[in-house]
Amino acid sequence: MAEPRKDEAVDATPNTTAVETVGPVDEGAAVAAIEAPVDRGEPILQVRNLVKHFPLTLGILFKRQVGAVKAVDGISFDLYQGETLGIVGESGCGKSTVAKLLMMLETATSGEIFYKGQDITKLSGRALKAVRRNIQMVFQDPYTSLNPRMTVGDIIGEPYEIHPEVAPRGDRRKKVQELLEVVGLNPEYIHRYPHQFSGGQRQRIGIARGLALNPEIIICDEPVSALDVSVQAQVVNLMERLQDEFNLSYVFIAHDLSIVRHISDRVGVMYLGKMAEIGSDTQIYDHPTHPYTQALLSAVPVPDPEAREGRERIILTGDVPSPANPPSGCRFRTRCWKAEDKCATEVPLLAVPERFRGVDTPAAHESACHFAEEKDVVHAG
Ligand SMILES: Nc1ncnc2c1ncn2[C@@H]1O[C@H](COP(=O)(O)OP(=O)(O)OP(=O)(O)O)[C@@H](O)[C@H]1O
Ligand code: SF4
Ligand SMILES: [Mg+2]
Repeated sequence: MAEPRKDEAVDATPNTTAVETVGPVDEGAAVAAIEAPVDRGEPILQVRNLVKHFPLTLGILFKRQVGAVKAVDGISFDLYQGETLGIVGESGCGKSTVAKLLMMLETATSGEIFYKGQDITKLSGRALKAVRRNIQMVFQDPYTSLNPRMTVGDIIGEPYEIHPEVAPRGDRRKKVQELLEVVGLNPEYIHRYPHQFSGGQRQRIGIARGLALNPEIIICDEPVSALDVSVQAQVVNLMERLQDEFNLSYVFIAHDLSIVRHISDRVGVMYLGKMAEIGSDTQIYDHPTHPYTQALLSAVPVPDPEAREGRERIILTGDVPSPANPPSGCRFRTRCWKAEDKCATEVPLLAVPERFRGVDTPAAHESACHFAEEKDVVHAG
C-alpha cells in the first residue's frame, strides 16, 4: 500500500476489516515475521476491537465483582510504518490504557493487537521478547520516570540487561554515549544523576532509553506535557528528527491539540473508551465531522483575532459520564447538541459516513456519528 498522504480521504474501516495473519504461529515463524522489515506506508500495527475493563469489586475478604470501569471499549485503528498517529481526548477517556495495552503492561480483556500480522496478545517466549524489544515507550513525567539513584549511563543501558544481544557488555558504554549524543546531550554526562538535569534534558534521557534497543515503534504518552512550553517545541523537534533518522513509527498521546497537529500524520479522537473520529491531520482539524471533535477544536485558543471573530464556539454542557456506566447508544449523546432518539438506542460505528462514501472530499473519513457532517469551527495549530 502506498503511504497515506496527509490530505488524502482514507476510506479504511479498520473495525470491519479482517487482518491477514502471517500463517499459523509457531515460535520460529513468529520471530521471523517480527524481525522482517515493513515497507514505509504499510500497516505495522493493527488494533482490532480492543477492550480493557477494570473490575469494580466490593468486600474485603470475599471480593465480588459489582461492575467494571470500561476504560477502553472496543477500539480499532492502524499505525502505518513511518507515521505518527496522534491520540487526543479528555482526561480519563482511556488514552493511557491504550498505551499500556500496546506496551503489554496491561492485559486486554478482549480484542487483538497485530504487530506485523502477529497477534501480540497471544504470543509468548522468544516471539514476545522480540515484540517487547521493538515496541518501546516514552513516559509523561521525566521527573518520576527516571530512577534518581541510577546514573544516566545505567538508566539508558538498563534495557541491555534483558536484551544483551543488542549491545554485548563490552560495547555498552560506547553505545550509551552514542545515544546521549543522538538526543543532543554531552556523552560525558554518562556518570551524572537525573537530578543534575533540567526537565527537557531528562526527557531527552527518557527518549535515549526508549531508543536503546533500536525499536520500530515508540508509544509516547504525553511526552511533553510536564515540560515548560519553551522546551516542548525542542523535544518535539528532536522526536521528529529521530523519527526520520531511525525510521520510527509513533503513537503520540497528548492533551494539546496544537502539538498533536504539529507532529501527527493522522489523528484519532477518543471519547469515553471509544474512538469518535480518525483521519489525516487536515481531515480532523480542518474538516471534523463528529460533534465531539468540533467541540474540542472550538475550545482551542486562537491567537489570530480575525480567525477568532469568525469562528463558532461550542460550549459542552454536562460532565463526562462515568466509564463504569456509560450512556446507551452513542456515548457522547448526554453532551451532544445534535442528539436524537436514534442516538440513545443505536451505537454509531466508526466508519466513513454514508453520505461521503465515494465522494472526493476531506469529510470522507471515519467518524462514529449517526449525523456526521462538517461544521466550520476553528482551525487549530
Ligand atoms: N488500574 C486501574 N484500575 C481501575 N480503573 C482504572 C485503572 N487504570 C485506569 N483506570 C480508569 O480507566 C479510565 C481511563 O483511564 P486512562 O488513564 O487510560 O485515561 P487517560 O485518557 O490517559 O486520562 P489522562 O488524560 O488523565 O491521562 C479512567 O476512568 C481511570 O480511572
Ligand atoms: S451519534 Fe448522535 S449523540 Fe452521538 S455524536 Fe452523533 S449526533 Fe451526537
Ligand atoms: Mg493518561
